[in-house]
Amino acid sequence: MIAVVLLGAGNVGQHLFEAIKKSSDTEVVQWYNRDIAKLQPFKNETDICDSIESLKEADIYIIAVSDDAIKNLALQLPFNDRLVVHTSGMTSIHDLDKSLHRGVFYPLQSFTKGKPIDFKKVPICLEALNKQHYVILQQLANALGSKSYKINTEQRKTLHLSAVFVNNFGNQLFRIAHELSDAKNINFEILKPLIVETADKINELSPYMAQTGPAVRGDKKTLKQHLKELDNSPHKLVYELMTQSIKRTHGKR
Ligand SMILES: NC(=O)c1ccc[n+]([C@@H]2O[C@H](COP(=O)([O-])OP(=O)(O)OC[C@H]3O[C@@H](n4cnc5c(N)ncnc54)[C@H](OP(=O)(O)O)[C@@H]3O)[C@@H](O)[C@H]2O)c1
Repeated sequence: MIAVVLLGAGNVGQHLFEAIKKSSDTEVVQWYNRDIAKLQPFKNETDICDSIESLKEADIYIIAVSDDAIKNLALQLPFNDRLVVHTSGMTSIHDLDKSLHRGVFYPLQSFTKGKPIDFKKVPICLEALNKQHYVILQQLANALGSKSYKINTEQRKTLHLSAVFVNNFGNQLFRIAHELSDAKNINFEILKPLIVETADKINELSPYMAQTGPAVRGDKKTLKQHLKELDNSPHKLVYELMTQSIKRTHGKR
C-alpha cells in the first residue's frame, strides 16, 4: 500500500484524491490545504489539515498547488529526505528543495472540478533523480491504472507548450465557431460530430495526413470568401494566421 499525503485541494488535488480513493494499492493518509474549508466535505474520508507542521509520515508527498506556490511550500515542509513531487508541467524538479527526495508526477490532462476523469486515460509524466524513487512513482501511476512516461524537465516544458496548442488553442477555436454559428442562429450541436471526428482521426492518421479544407487544397476563391465574411471580425486575424500556418506546413503559397 502506497501512503500518500496530498497537498492542495484545487482541480488536480481533488481529482487525484478521487483516483487514489478508488485504488486498492494506495491511500491518501492526509490531505493538506491552506484553506481548510475546501477539505471539510472530505473530513470523514481522510485526515484533513491546514498546518504544514502537522504532516504525517508517508511514502509520497504530492504538491498539487499553483505553480507559483510550489517552491515556497516545499521549503516549508518540516522534514528532509522524503519523496516529494509536484504536478506541474512548467516547474523544474530543481524548484523543490535540495534537502528532499525530489520528483515530478505530471498528469497530462485538463482537470476541472466536478468533471469526472478516468485516470486510466491520463498519461502521467514522471521524473525522479534516482531509480529507486522513479520506481515508487511508477508504482503509484500503476496503482491509478495510468500509463506513465519518463519525461525530463525540458521535455515536460515542451509537452506543456504542445498541450496549450492542443487543448487551450483548440478549445478557443471551438469557441470562435460557437460564436460564429450563434450569430446566425445555427445550433452548435451540428458542429459537434465534426469536433469529435477531428480528434478521433488522429488515432489513425498523423495530424499532417489528417488535414483537409480550403487552405491545404489551395482553394483561393473559398479562402477569399471566408475572409470577406470575417471583415470587421476579431477572428479574421486568427483565420489568416491559421491559413498561413497550414499552407506553410503543406508547402502551399
Ligand atoms: N488543472 C489542470 O488541468 C492541470 C493539469 C496538469 C497539471 N496541473 C498543475 O497542477 C497544479 C495545481 O493546479 P490546479 O489546476 O489544481 O490549481 P487550482 O485549481 O487553481 O488550485 C490551486 C491550489 O493551490 C493552492 N495554493 C495557491 N496558492 C498557494 C499558496 N501560496 N500556498 C499554499 N497553497 C496555495 C490553493 O489553495 P487554496 O484552496 O487555499 O487557495 C489550491 O489548493 C499546478 O502546478 C498546475 O500547473 C494542472
